[in-house]
Amino acid sequence: MAGDPKSVAESDPGADVAGLSAVTLRALGAAVLHRRMYPPEHPIASRALTSLSLYLERLLSRVEEWRLALVGSKLMAGGHPIDEGAEGSLPFLDGLKARGIETIAFKRGLDVEELRRFISLMILDPKWFAGTSLQDLMAKEGIRSIEAGRLVLDDPVEADRVKVVRDETGPELSEAYDNALAFIEEAAGALHEGRRISMEDAESFVRLVASQMQQDRSPFLILTALKAHHAYTFTHIINVCILTVAQIEALGGAPQALREFGLASMMHDIGKTLLPGEILSKPGKLTPEEFALVQRHPQDGVHILRETPGVPDLALIVALEHHMRYNHGGYPHRRHPRPLHPCSLMTNLADTYDAMRSRRAYQEEFPPEKVAAVISERAGTDYHPQLSLAFLQLMGAYPPGTRVRLDTGEEGVVVRVNPGNPYRPVIRMLRDSSGGLVRRLEIVDLMDKEKVGGHFARNVLGSIKSQPRPQPGG
Ligand SMILES: [Fe+2]
Ligand SMILES: [Fe+2]
Repeated sequence: MAGDPKSVAESDPGADVAGLSAVTLRALGAAVLHRRMYPPEHPIASRALTSLSLYLERLLSRVEEWRLALVGSKLMAGGHPIDEGAEGSLPFLDGLKARGIETIAFKRGLDVEELRRFISLMILDPKWFAGTSLQDLMAKEGIRSIEAGRLVLDDPVEADRVKVVRDETGPELSEAYDNALAFIEEAAGALHEGRRISMEDAESFVRLVASQMQQDRSPFLILTALKAHHAYTFTHIINVCILTVAQIEALGGAPQALREFGLASMMHDIGKTLLPGEILSKPGKLTPEEFALVQRHPQDGVHILRETPGVPDLALIVALEHHMRYNHGGYPHRRHPRPLHPCSLMTNLADTYDAMRSRRAYQEEFPPEKVAAVISERAGTDYHPQLSLAFLQLMGAYPPGTRVRLDTGEEGVVVRVNPGNPYRPVIRMLRDSSGGLVRRLEIVDLMDKEKVGGHFARNVLGSIKSQPRPQPGG
């Protein structure tokens, strides 16, 4: 455990901030550990606290604040990386993680009493916090010289992924996506107030998606992956539209069909605007009564669309049929089932796909390879067999925008799917095999084989979960 601060100073009089950081971290770990095992007045616990306080005092005489930050799986102390297994600090780090804390700063002026209260909070079971953040508790305890919070700093590789995605999509498509989002938001507001919606903005977005898809479908697919984590209800509508247009385009649909399918799929959940917000964002399982309400949204959608001028019939069909399922096991139930419109079947695939890969109040997102597995498992039951196959060929197991880890130790982001092999996309490198960031543009096709031996040069080990990025207004 942490030694006596004086002996460290004597044995290492020139201890710099980095060295002091390491011993202070050990002392912090020891103080928490001992406070877990002994009451605060016990000599072992109080000695550990005094020791920590002295180290901090020395550190804070050299620097204004001493900051600990968890960056990915790495711990930084006072700006220097520390081995996470650093003796004794592990329980403290686990405690931070359990409380959702990514960074903590000890500021000059800190006294031993504040430190004692802080340690007492750190040993509380996070379950007891129940909705109260550590920051709030610290404020209540009058702890002013320690600040805890989430990291504003992004994981550099994740920041690069987002940059690559931006490079691949270009500002125009990104802007079009955001305009479409604004339209959906406005339309939802209008419907809430009993006003009618205008179809013009929706039509112009769909025209753009359709014409872009005919040139190159990857950019919009990448956008759907990037936005999957954001305000779900609205991005979901846009994503489903894009994913449906991509399907009909891949099957050789005419431009007119692309636009019709796009518009219809964009309206698929319009009936949900009548649902109370508490149900839409409910974190837990719905009660049977709530679920019955949700199941009305197809019929409600039909009513809304019937009242809206300029809505094509296909939109009404898709609003009604998009949850019926290929085997008619969904809702609303039809007494005399008849074949569903292809646009309803494609919208259903797009809908399920986007729902599964999105993080929501009640659900962690599925890794894309798992989403692909679920769809292929249910091909022929929930989903149309050929359409599911075509969808998986289009998206691959690792769709554009996915960050992947390779068996060479490298990391990259998918920029294209190889239609011949869903497991071997084209990627842009982010990290080399020694973990260093790849700054130059390096595109690798995973279908490429080694010159000698004829084996594939690289294989995907799996997708890497991307970090959710904070969004103003959620
Ligand atoms: Fe729906
Ligand atoms: Fe939906």
